[in-house]
Amino acid sequence: MAFTVAIDGPAASGKGTVAKRVAAHYGLGHLDTGLLYRAVGRRMLDGEDPVAAAEALKPEDLDREGLRTAQVGEAASRVGAIGAVRAALLDFQRAFARRSGGAVLDGRDIGTVICPEAEAKLFVTASAEVRAERRFRELVAAGIDTRLEAVLADIRARDERDTARSDAPLRAADDAVTIDTTRLDIEAAVAAAIAAVEAARAGG
Ligand code: DC
Repeated sequence: MAFTVAIDGPAASGKGTVAKRVAAHYGLGHLDTGLLYRAVGRRMLDGEDPVAAAEALKPEDLDREGLRTAQVGEAASRVGAIGAVRAALLDFQRAFARRSGGAVLDGRDIGTVICPEAEAKLFVTASAEVRAERRFRELVAAGIDTRLEAVLADIRARDERDTARSDAPLRAADDAVTIDTTRLDIEAAVAAAIAAVEAARAGG
């Protein structure tokens, strides 16, 4: 049975890892839609107009190095607030979601705007403090010199911009199952996600 799994949530909630693991479990393709906004943000930092960059975006742009940095994440959040950028990225995401066999997409507006008809919707979240600690540990492990307070301030600023924008703000779809990973490790979060997808499939 073909089915689409929509996974939304804030930065560093664990939604990317959960999405990857759910996709592997069901043998489905996975699209990290944050990469689309990051690729556009990268081009904006290089001096390009973000709307033109979004309109010209090609799948191979998602494989560019350096899209995972905090600076590019911040730029992605800024271009994500531009309605014309979001509009330019819509068709690619919907086409991916309709792939035969199904797909897993993760982002901020998958269950609300991109795939409102998705068979399973998850909202993966955690407290800002726990998300900041996770991101901080990743950065330190990668040899990046930073302070926990600075990472927490970045997470809060990003949450604020992503939830307050008028176009496709970050929020849980009414029919999404929320998985709060504040006190869950990744294995427990993945198990909860697969259980929620199974329940959705059984009910739908
Ligand atoms: O998931 P991420 O950290 O890679 O996303 C980076 C930014 O891109 C995020 O802060 C807001 C934007 N984004 C968005 O507006 N809509 C999406 N579906 C995915 C990401």
